[in-house]
Amino acid sequence: MRPHSCAEPSHAGRRLVAVDRITSLSAVATPERFTTIPAVIGAPMAGGPTTPELVTAVSTAGGLGVLAAGYLPAEQLAADIGAVRVLLPPRAPFGVNLFAPPPGPADPVDVAEYATRLAPLADAAGVALGRPRFDDDDFERKLQVVRVLRPPVVTFAFGRPEPGLVDELHGLGVAVWVTITSREEAEHAAEGGADAIIAQGAEAGGHRGGFEDSDEPPLPLDELLADVVPIGTPVIAAGGIMDAGDARRVFRLGATAVQAGTAFLLTPQAGTAAVHRTAIAAPGDTVLTRAFSGRRARGIVNAWTTRIGAEAPRAYPEVHHLTASLRASGRREGNADLVNLWAGTEHVRALPVPAAKVVAELARGLT
Ligand SMILES: Cc1cc2nc3c(=O)[nH]c(=O)nc-3n(C[C@H](O)[C@H](O)[C@H](O)COP(=O)(O)O)c2cc1C
Repeated sequence: MRPHSCAEPSHAGRRLVAVDRITSLSAVATPERFTTIPAVIGAPMAGGPTTPELVTAVSTAGGLGVLAAGYLPAEQLAADIGAVRVLLPPRAPFGVNLFAPPPGPADPVDVAEYATRLAPLADAAGVALGRPRFDDDDFERKLQVVRVLRPPVVTFAFGRPEPGLVDELHGLGVAVWVTITSREEAEHAAEGGADAIIAQGAEAGGHRGGFEDSDEPPLPLDELLADVVPIGTPVIAAGGIMDAGDARRVFRLGATAVQAGTAFLLTPQAGTAAVHRTAIAAPGDTVLTRAFSGRRARGIVNAWTTRIGAEAPRAYPEVHHLTASLRASGRREGNADLVNLWAGTEHVRALPVPAAKVVAELARGLT
């Protein structure tokens, strides 16, 4: 039998709903907005570490896991949300993390110069560098997935959503949490209607999630908490939270919840590459670098960050695309010098235990 096309008369004589009306129709039954903030949040970790299994394990254990939509095709995000919904107990919450679009393309000359510096690495690895294109990570289509599938929470990195979008998401029953790295950003997020702010301290692994890719020295988590807790919007503390003692400390400083990333990187549910796991388990310094993506992020020091990291331009996501094939070859070949080894300053304390154990350990900080 031929499948029905949109608006074609069905065999019952009724007309099928056109696809572009599905969103507005599905918005009719508005559920209650999700307002709970579980004490332990599993940080979204784009690029492989966050899997639907990790999100499910965190949320099943009483925390809240967050899918990392960054770099994913919108279709994959939709599939991952579906997978989490199938795996989760009914009514257990979860979130989706989106990257707010970058402000605009970087200077192509800067990117070309950095490509010249990377060429010997690419030659030695036998791979071609990627095309350094500018894009918005398919933001609108991912937003459309969120509008239709309505995860309980959407968290934003790299910028706050426009107040109109916050209102729209609230109307769909979706809570909005915004990553901030300063008091000023926290005030903007609160004024824009955020239900919670994710305060990311200097210790945090991965990208700086603030609104701008600044050169300012990042604030240590405890100082940031002192600045933003008085605003009055619930604060989720992120950066270097590895055990109950760390969690207890930030709860006492006024945090409502903790968001941990690095503490989950060695769990069996994480999709962390083998070469990345090895580096996390070994003692080693971390550094803030634009080497891999063109935007400052914290990772474990390797030959790439040491030799040419300082020359990387502020050019996200162009540099991310430029280096993608080289980083993939490093993961494939187990060459740690070619991989962005994102990790927080406390990475050596990460444990290879099930994600539920990490959640239970962090939750002990509440007692
Ligand atoms: C491997 C890795 C990937 C990350 N990717 C994201 C991401 O996609 N979106 C985001 O908002 N934060 C991301 N982060 C930052 C986390 O949200 C969080 O701020 C950080 O993990 C907290 O510090 P910790 O790693 O010391 O726990 C990432 C962190 C790591 C370690």
